[in-house]
Order: sequence, then C-alpha cells, then structure tokens
Amino acid sequence: MREVPPSAGPPPAGLSGRTVVVTGAGAPIGDSYVRAFAAAGADVVAVDLLSTARQALKTARTATRTGPGRAVFAPADVTSPSDWQLVVERTIAEFGRLDVLVNNAAVYRSLARKRPLGELCVEEWDAVFAVNVQGTWLGIRAVTPPMVDCGGGSIVNISSVVGRTGAVGFAHYVASKAAVEGLTRAAARELGAHNIRVNAVAPGLVDNDASRTLNTEEYLTAAARARALPRPMHAHDLIGPLLWLASPASAFVTGQTVIVDGGQVFA
Ligand SMILES: NC(=O)c1ccc[n+]([C@@H]2O[C@H](COP(=O)([O-])OP(=O)(O)OC[C@H]3O[C@@H](n4cnc5c(N)ncnc54)[C@H](O)[C@@H]3O)[C@@H](O)[C@H]2O)c1
Repeated sequence: MREVPPSAGPPPAGLSGRTVVVTGAGAPIGDSYVRAFAAAGADVVAVDLLSTARQALKTARTATRTGPGRAVFAPADVTSPSDWQLVVERTIAEFGRLDVLVNNAAVYRSLARKRPLGELCVEEWDAVFAVNVQGTWLGIRAVTPPMVDCGGGSIVNISSVVGRTGAVGFAHYVASKAAVEGLTRAAARELGAHNIRVNAVAPGLVDNDASRTLNTEEYLTAAARARALPRPMHAHDLIGPLLWLASPASAFVTGQTVIVDGGQVFA
C-alpha cells in the first residue's frame, strides 16, 4: 500500500502566546501534540504519570528547543483531584494563563491484550473508567476557573472511533470512549456561557507500538485497507484537526466529535 507523505500545512493562527495543557504527554501521540503546539507558538504543560518522567521530560525539552513555544513537564495522575490542582497552579506559575486542555491520557496500551467482555473483571473495568472518563471530567473541572479568568478556552477530549464501531475485545475501553463523547456534549452545554468550547477528536487505529500490543499486523493492515483513504494512520494525521479545534479558527464549534480516521467511519 503506497503511503502519501504528510502535508499538515501551517498551524492555524491564534495559538501563539496561549498556554496548553496536554495529558498523556509521555507516550508518542502525546509527544507529537506537545511538539505541534510548541511549534505553533503555544507554551505547553506536558502532563503524565511520574513513571514516564524520562520520556515526558525529553518531550518537553525537545519541544522547547524547536519552539518557539516553551514546554515543561508536570507529573500528575489524572485520577487525582489534588494532582489536577497542582497542574493548574504550576501552569499559572509558569505561564500566567491556561487557554487549552487536551485530555489525551488513557488506559490503552496497558490493556495489554483483547479479551471477551465475559473475561473482564470489575477492577479492570473501574480502572479504565477512572482514567479515561473520570480523569477527563476532573481535568475539565480543574481548568474551568483559570479558563474563565482568561475569558474562555478550548478543551479537546480524545475519544476513539471504537466508541462507534464497537470494536471487539475491549468493551470497557470502547464504553469509556463513548462516554467521553457524551461528557464532551454535556460540558459544552454547561461551559458555553463562559466562552469555553468542548470538543472531541475520535482517532482511528494509529499505526504505533501501543496499537501493536493489542492488535496483529493483519488487523492493522485490514484497518488501513478499510479506509476511504487506504493507508496506515499516524500521529501526525491528528495534528491539523487538533490544532484547529484548539484555536480561534473553530470559535463557533462546540460539543462536536471530529472523526479522524481516513474515512472508515462516517458520522
Ligand atoms: N493508538 C491508537 O490507535 C488510538 C486510537 C484511538 C484513540 N486513541 C487515544 O489516543 C490517546 C493516546 O493514545 P496512545 O496510543 O498514546 O496510548 P498509550 O496507552 O500509549 O498512552 C497513554 C498515556 O496516558 C498516560 N496515562 C495513563 N494513565 C494515566 C493517569 N492516571 N494519569 C496520567 N497519565 C496517564 C500513560 O502514561 C501514557 O503516557 C488515548 O486517549 C487513546 O485512547 C489511540
């Protein structure tokens, strides 16, 4: 299958001088988000578990070096309200404002393998919902006051097309991503009066190591062939839509889920 080289084009205007919090920054997709925002001129607070510090610090340093925005690593567990408070305090101390939140952290790679829903246990279900759904809500809740102080903001929650396709083998993850889209709509309605927009990006299957822990090569190849644009998907395919939703270019868009999957699922 022939790959077409990426052509993300220039970043949308209006991100320069803004401050963006990106969770899950210690994994490759989060890393590409941090670097893309810094390249667009935004300052970035890269959030992930302390256990990812080595990679997340590297991400922050690389983003700062390539700039023009600056990035710092703030270790935090997104399931902890007090950690979220520390993230907000660090963001304001470091950059003086908070304009954008990307809720990207999730239990995905650590699912390790797919299994029928009858084999999942309650603890596994709760752990997935604690990070993917409750962690997303806690992030929205924590950034609302500083965004109100800034006159508004943009929140982008990362869901997944599996919330619509009902992909087999990880029902807890699938349900959690569908819940993220419902939460996105509820938060959009509640926060719109504060000029805070809340949208979601639903990626298709990204061809990366995390996906390879859960899927065979044959599965990844079949997924690529099933797209209207029949090629593997990469993290850079998400950058344009993410930056657009974060920027004032999408100022009248809220409560929406933008599917970025090369045309496998049509909304
Ligand atoms: N990879 C794909 O094919 C794909 C497809 C659709 C959607 N997504 C979504 O994109 C996002 C990124 O995916 P990925 O492939 O990088 O997943 P990943 O599992 O490799 O990375 C997730 C990151 O979240 C962090 N994280 C987990 N629990 C956390 C917690 N309690 N507090 C703070 N950070 C925590 C992890 O440390 C990790 O760095 C996720 O929301 C995922 O569900 C991925």
